[in-house]
Amino acid sequence: MFDLPVLNASETSLESHLLSPTLHDNVLQSSPKPHSSPNARKLYVETYGCQMNVSDSEIVKSVMNQSGYAMTDKPDDADVILLNTCAIRENAERKIHERLMHLKFYKKRRRNLVVGVLGCMAERMRDELMETKQIVDVVVGPDEYRKLPEIVARAEAGEKGIAVKLSRVETYDDIEPLRTEGVSAWISIMRGCDKFCTFCVVPFTRGRERSRGLPLIVTEAQQLWDAGFKEITLLGQNVNSYRDEGAGTDFADLLKATARAVPQMRIRYSTSHPYDMSDKLIATMAEYDNICKYIHLPVQSGSDRVLEAMNRHYTVAHYKERLRTIRDFMPHCALSTDIIVGFPTETADEHRMTADLMAEVRFDGAFMFLYSPREGTKAWKMEDDVPHDEKVRRLNEIIAQQQDISNEINQRAIGTTERVLVEGPSRRNPETAWFGRTDTNKIVVFPHVTNQEASVAAGYVIGDTINIRITKASPAMLTGVVETIS
Ligand code: SAH
Ligand code: SF4
Ligand code: F3S
Repeated sequence: MFDLPVLNASETSLESHLLSPTLHDNVLQSSPKPHSSPNARKLYVETYGCQMNVSDSEIVKSVMNQSGYAMTDKPDDADVILLNTCAIRENAERKIHERLMHLKFYKKRRRNLVVGVLGCMAERMRDELMETKQIVDVVVGPDEYRKLPEIVARAEAGEKGIAVKLSRVETYDDIEPLRTEGVSAWISIMRGCDKFCTFCVVPFTRGRERSRGLPLIVTEAQQLWDAGFKEITLLGQNVNSYRDEGAGTDFADLLKATARAVPQMRIRYSTSHPYDMSDKLIATMAEYDNICKYIHLPVQSGSDRVLEAMNRHYTVAHYKERLRTIRDFMPHCALSTDIIVGFPTETADEHRMTADLMAEVRFDGAFMFLYSPREGTKAWKMEDDVPHDEKVRRLNEIIAQQQDISNEINQRAIGTTERVLVEGPSRRNPETAWFGRTDTNKIVVFPHVTNQEASVAAGYVIGDTINIRITKASPAMLTGVVETIS
């Protein structure tokens, strides 16, 4: 999941993000290690959708591990298979339906196998999933993961189970995620969304917005640093509306407190909403070197009329003004965005406005999507009147344009030296190359020989930040050679 190109231009691309004792005085339990007995039943979790789901899967594993389940990364070995699903577009749901068909074979081979659907589709499809897909034993929504061990245990005894209530308060604050060891960690700082963009299913699948307290998040960041993590990403659907009600602190305060508490840690966040991207937040980002200079700021459309129909609460002028302020404070800050093409009633001229805005702003990368009607949303009631072929034409047009822009921006990096946080072997050439990221979130691939002596001789290890001289660039990544390792 980390070896993704920065430019993520197609519909098919990824979006792109423990029941421990009650907590006292903001003290989290020490980092949990998966524990298991030899006879423990094995759990396999497969995660789809955004980083919030990746983070939630770590909560799910933690809750199940505390109840005695061992983790496996092989579905063939599993006694329980849970799919943590996404409902953002029809394509995302189609993938899950296909996966469930596959899982039928596993179930034939292993009679006692329990199959569960978690996450956003669980919330949308509820019992329909269990009725029409005989294979599904358990359906559990994003706010009900504490109940998973009990529901799965009942399913093991033959009783199907469903829990899909949304909560106004659940933040899993006392549950320490069972993270995969590595360089980067996710910290979920809030849940839900109150924005109700007319195209979006998230407010319905994730419920009302609620934030965790600031002190515990900062403590978690410190513990992650102590555990060896070098980068954290603070997660929420709209982090700009983060609020610790008790302390009266906002997202900029949280970012500042975190940056101070772990001054060597790289800090990222996702996602921002242009409506409430405040000056205070931008100034805070500029002030601390360890806050990465990269902002994902979804604009969705370049037409004010379409933005209004989407209920986005800002105009193109406001968006451009926010970008001016960002660039005034941080001239080298990288920017990416999300675009929806073919929203109901979008005309060819309005699409042109989106393309023109993208050409003017010159984003480093963009995630571009065909509009997909979602039942229950306001836009669902509007006629999906842009023909599919026309949507695809519009999408291809802006993908091509963005490829050129990303390529031009990346070509300019050739000859420069970038600070790169080393993440590990490159997916494509694991034997001969490693990869890492710049603080502007660009992937950099560089030669590395993986035998033991050569690794030692290289003088750096995964998690180090090293200097790489950039020698080549493509729209999706940079290539370079190690210059110095300190
Ligand atoms: N909370 C984030 C976005 C989460 S969903 C934000 O507001 O920025 C990620 C992206 O999926 C959205 O920005 C939007 O571009 C896209 N998206 C959401 N619903 C969609 C739909 N019904 N059809 C097509 N794209 C959609
Ligand atoms: Fe969806 Fe809008 Fe909330 Fe983002 S801000 S999750 S697009 S409703
Ligand atoms: Fe994320 Fe998909 Fe749900 S984008 S919030 S997993 S609908």
